Amino acid sequence: MTALRWAKILRSLGHRVTLREEYGGETCDLLIALHARRSQPSILRFREAGPGGALVVALTGTDLYQDIHESNEARRSLALASRLVVLTPLGVSELPMSERHKVRAIVQSAGRPARARAAPASAFRACVVGHLRAVKDPFRTAKATRLLSRTSRVVAWHFGAALDPGMGAKAQEESSQNPRYSWLGERPRQEVLESLLGSHLLVLTSFMEGGANVVSEALACGVPVISSRIPGSIGILGEDYPGYFPAGDTEALAELLGRAEEQADFYAALANACNALAPLVDPTRERESWRELLEELFGPATLVQGRGRSDHDALRKDVRHGLLATPKRLPFRWFYDEEGSRLFDEICTLPEYYLPRAEREILEAHADELAGVFPSGPTVVELGSGTAVKTRIVLEAILRRHGSAHYVPVDIAGSVLVESSRSLRSAYPSLGVTALHGDYDDALAEWSHFPGAPRLVLWLGSNIGNFEREEATDFLGKLRERLKPGDRVLVGIDLIKDRAVLEAAYNDSRGVTARFNKNMIVRMMRELGAEFDLSGFSHRAFFNEATGCIEMHLLCDRPQRVDVRALGLQVDFSAGESIHTESSHKYSREEIEALATSAGLAVEHVWTDREGLLADVVMGLG
Ligand code: AVJ
Repeated sequence: MTALRWAKILRSLGHRVTLREEYGGETCDLLIALHARRSQPSILRFREAGPGGALVVALTGTDLYQDIHESNEARRSLALASRLVVLTPLGVSELPMSERHKVRAIVQSAGRPARARAAPASAFRACVVGHLRAVKDPFRTAKATRLLSRTSRVVAWHFGAALDPGMGAKAQEESSQNPRYSWLGERPRQEVLESLLGSHLLVLTSFMEGGANVVSEALACGVPVISSRIPGSIGILGEDYPGYFPAGDTEALAELLGRAEEQADFYAALANACNALAPLVDPTRERESWRELLEELFGPATLVQGRGRSDHDALRKDVRHGLLATPKRLPFRWFYDEEGSRLFDEICTLPEYYLPRAEREILEAHADELAGVFPSGPTVVELGSGTAVKTRIVLEAILRRHGSAHYVPVDIAGSVLVESSRSLRSAYPSLGVTALHGDYDDALAEWSHFPGAPRLVLWLGSNIGNFEREEATDFLGKLRERLKPGDRVLVGIDLIKDRAVLEAAYNDSRGVTARFNKNMIVRMMRELGAEFDLSGFSHRAFFNEATGCIEMHLLCDRPQRVDVRALGLQVDFSAGESIHTESSHKYSREEIEALATSAGLAVEHVWTDREGLLADVVMGLG
């Protein structure tokens, strides 16, 4: 019934739905698996097809109150799910802490049939609806009716199939000997609903329910409910509902039935409580819950604008300041307009520029281990995310292991950020994305708005190298203040090595790095009307052994005076003078330890590539 109703809802939301007993590898955007344990083969099969697909696992009563506590398969299903659906809000508390963030409660809705099959005026009819299974305690109502006083008008109508012949025989026997009890077997759904609508009570005797569909149906019909006191019912009817009896307690059930029949005010209290709950089972509400869940999985990334995103005013300020300083310098952040971002991507494909290659090798070797550090899918905050190609290695490992995660890319290059977020969202519906358009300080400032713990901060590709050593320590120290136990930072750090290797990486034979560097001038020409003679500048990059740093400069070959029109500024360049555009600091292994220690962080792993070119360093609070 649940599957049929959900299929109808999803179709009404515009989707194509097929129902299967088992998932056979068909292409689909979303798999909704009912039952964590019994659907485990389907769940595994769907997950094998690729990481990050949308997988919703709906938990039944046996999952929640039994299987996930006993069966590893059921627990593995929880871990692999993108989202978990429970049928009452109380279901959440059965789940391990690590999975609770995935849970959404969707109360089953029901409609009210147009007509009722009323009981004869002389009878007070209690309806029991459910197949004859032990977990439903199917004969409890019959037994209770035997305890009622001789004058009672209570009769019980029991709808539901006997799933084994023994149960059927027993129900038939009871039916023929107990004049108050009738087993009607499996009847058409419409007939059951009309009979329910014409009854005085619904009785639910189950020992275990995830949230019984028939309780929703009774609420939609305005028929008061008497239920065993189980979480599946408390989650819908509320803790203080007056119509509970202890599961399995025949006397208590008989007593309730008697009171409902005889005490008008008690019956009215049940009816009022049930009427007040009718909105909970309104079909538009269930439809809305599914719409929201699909929006979480397939909706767009959230984009947050940080204060430090590079605006025109900041550029003017930095250029005025930097060109008037001695020696002249410009902040590296101004490399990354659209063209600069594209050029940097091209740098990353150059044979001399070993960093991305080395880091890819490290991430491929260790991503699974990294994912295993976290008890559930972390929120991955990436500083300077760019196109996030290497990041996918980490994200996929996390999604394979934990089913879902959240990604917070932080970058000053807006269009690159939007594009990479979009493509990650469509590749991995299970990965939520909140993109922060801004700088590293924005990441710290917006920290509390990112989805919760645990968190993994990625600072890859030796982005840290752009910071002076002291700045790097300070920033890591500030980052540390934001961390909670269990959070981790992964910093990609370029290692000190042979000067020739280092200098080749920043002086590539195809001149891409030179164009990247000169793009800073092109940008000032375009955005500030600066009248540079570009041909008079050349790219210069060298390793400064004393500072352990590649310095990049724009070297002026012959004297020129540059009019920066938007600033009303004239700047003189002498021959041999340069603008310092970038520092790219390299570290020794000892310096890496010292860096972490002075920032108050504990080094957990130093992973390097086979050639020992780059280190990916995992740090934690220790
Ligand atoms: C983006 C800072 C890691 O320093 O290697 C590449 C930038 N500059 N070639 C680096 C860069 C010139 C790069 N980082």
